[in-house]
Amino acid sequence: MARIVEPTDAQVARAAARLRAGDVIAFPTETVYGLGADILNACAIRRVYALKGRPSDNPLIAHVSDASTAPDIVDGWDDRCSALAQRFWPGPLTFILRRKLDVPASAAAGLNTLAVRAPRHPVASRLLKIFGGAIVAPSANRSGHTSPTRATHVADDFAEAEDLLILDGGSSEVGIESTVLDMTSDPPRILRPGTIGTDALTIVLGEVTEHGATSQDIAPGTSAAHYAPRTPATLVSRSDLRSALGALSDVAAVLCFDAATVPPPHHALVMPADAVSYAAQLYSRLREADLLGVHQLLIEAPPADSSLWLAIHDRLRRATSEND
Ligand code: TXA
Ligand code: MG
Repeated sequence: MARIVEPTDAQVARAAARLRAGDVIAFPTETVYGLGADILNACAIRRVYALKGRPSDNPLIAHVSDASTAPDIVDGWDDRCSALAQRFWPGPLTFILRRKLDVPASAAAGLNTLAVRAPRHPVASRLLKIFGGAIVAPSANRSGHTSPTRATHVADDFAEAEDLLILDGGSSEVGIESTVLDMTSDPPRILRPGTIGTDALTIVLGEVTEHGATSQDIAPGTSAAHYAPRTPATLVSRSDLRSALGALSDVAAVLCFDAATVPPPHHALVMPADAVSYAAQLYSRLREADLLGVHQLLIEAPPADSSLWLAIHDRLRRATSEND
């Protein structure tokens, strides 16, 4: 059985000791929970892939305590990286840089590059400091499922994982995964949108390339059918909601902005109108929808007028991709 524990000093030290012993543990970050392993232990990395059921061609993100330790695992850390780290670390921004040769290739799915970020969740920071090295961690969900933003989400996905230690850090504040920025291309290119958007990055870098349809080829694992709830989900505009519900023969759940737009017997899951709160609640709500036992989930399309809403749209597209 997976075991959720309070992040006391003793439990954080225990988690660090487990990492040193080659075990896999789960820990909170400000974006989503991660399934962590010692970056220098290829066996532990294999265990992460096996536990998640993650395809071996999908590289992991290395977590470091701060900018001073990043150059231990990547080459090419330059002034631009320092400026970005100064502004956004610790925080939800991941850099792609060249992997140092002593970092096991399996951490990066065999690529010459490696993803690195310093998370700002206090429990993740404490764990990294006590552990003393870098921790590779994908989101702590079964491959293809919605990312976890609470310890219980991790326990639900890994109910059969014998003895998996899960540090409980409460609800993840950001709620969607970090922005992934490829620093090996010139200008740097956003491979996965997140809460740190193009405008904020442009202020520091001068120029960035936005992610596009081609980013799936460059950021393996960002392909469709990721971040998906188990209930088949469809994105619907507010104006089409009523007719979409009318056409259903079964009860549905609806992620909406106003319960009045969802007539009974359908279930309304009301989302906040502001993008920051919407992102923070999204994955929890998708998991809630799964627990309702309905056969269909409709998601009212949110606005698309800010970089955060666009990052949310990116996740909603993936959550609904099998039904498009
Ligand atoms: O917020 C986050 O980034 C969370 C927390 C736990 O830090 N982690 C996370 O990891 O979302 P994961 O494994 O679910 O997603 C990692 C993403 C994948 O889309 C992967 O393709 C991309 O980062 N990535 C990792 N290494 C890469 C590399 N060398 N080149 C291109 N993309 C890479
Ligand atoms: Mg993931």
